[in-house]
Amino acid sequence: MKDVVVLVGTGSIGQAIARRVGAGKKVILGDLKLEAAQSAAKIFDDAGFDTSATTVDISSRESILKLVEHAQTFGAVKNLICAAGVSPSQAPVEKILRVDLYGMAVMLEEFGKIIADGGSGVIISSQSGHRLGALSEEQNFQLATTPTEELLNLPFLRAITDTLKAYQYSKRCNVLRVAGQATPWGKRGATVNSISPGIIITPLAADELKGPRGDGYRKMLQASPAGRAGTPDEVGDLAEFLMSSRGRFISGADFLIDGGTTASYWFGDLQYLKATH
Ligand SMILES: NC(=O)c1ccc[n+]([C@@H]2O[C@H](COP(=O)([O-])OP(=O)(O)OC[C@H]3O[C@@H](n4cnc5c(N)ncnc54)[C@H](O)[C@@H]3O)[C@@H](O)[C@H]2O)c1
Repeated sequence: MKDVVVLVGTGSIGQAIARRVGAGKKVILGDLKLEAAQSAAKIFDDAGFDTSATTVDISSRESILKLVEHAQTFGAVKNLICAAGVSPSQAPVEKILRVDLYGMAVMLEEFGKIIADGGSGVIISSQSGHRLGALSEEQNFQLATTPTEELLNLPFLRAITDTLKAYQYSKRCNVLRVAGQATPWGKRGATVNSISPGIIITPLAADELKGPRGDGYRKMLQASPAGRAGTPDEVGDLAEFLMSSRGRFISGADFLIDGGTTASYWFGDLQYLKATH
């Protein structure tokens, strides 16, 4: 038996994190698309990791429970990395809420029941969640604590009609859900945090840059404090710290890694975007 790392969403961000925490452990690579999991496994195996590729659909609790069971056959689950998701240009409102909001919430809940002592989890939210104005204290509480099966019935979620809002609420919910889960995870001796990246060059971001909002994204990047997009490795470095022994006092927190874009959106040169978001 080995310590187990579970990665769901085997895109570049997820892979960058798993590479940093997976040495000497069993790395479970789960994705909706088996080919995606298998091609990640090939890269990892060729680099000396011990992997198992599998399919999982995080929009289904049953599928998540199968993944939990599969992972535990190899040993104690020490690390969870959730980097699965669909973007506003990739899916309709209902699907975004089902995968990015509900799916992430169920992942946190189910892995929070079995995470090993000394373990840690990181889920990938987005800067997008930081562009919603303040929600009420009651809405924050509801997003953080409503039982997962009732989440999608919250009236303010049911009222969402555009995909960008669905994504923003989902990502805000990820952050609040992590805060809500810090207590049960803490009782098992584990930490859980979220990372909210800005634009990171991956296939998902490439879809966005080609999509209807592409021009806007390019202009935004040029005018942002960093003046560029981020790389999966930069997100990986942050996640590695959170999941390392140096990060044990950090739990229930969200980390924005966006080259200053959000700060500029609210208070700097990117304030012009407020009119369009
Ligand atoms: N790339 C960016 O600029 C950026 C910025 C902020 C946040 N994010 C977030 O980072 C995460 C990873 O994105 P990425 O850029 O690496 O994208 P990606 O498309 O390379 O990876 C996402 C993976 O999730 C998988 N997936 C989709 N639906 C799934 C489901 N129901 N169950 C299991 N797997 C599923 C996809 O098959 C894909 O392999 C996403 O949550 C995304 O919202 C990305």
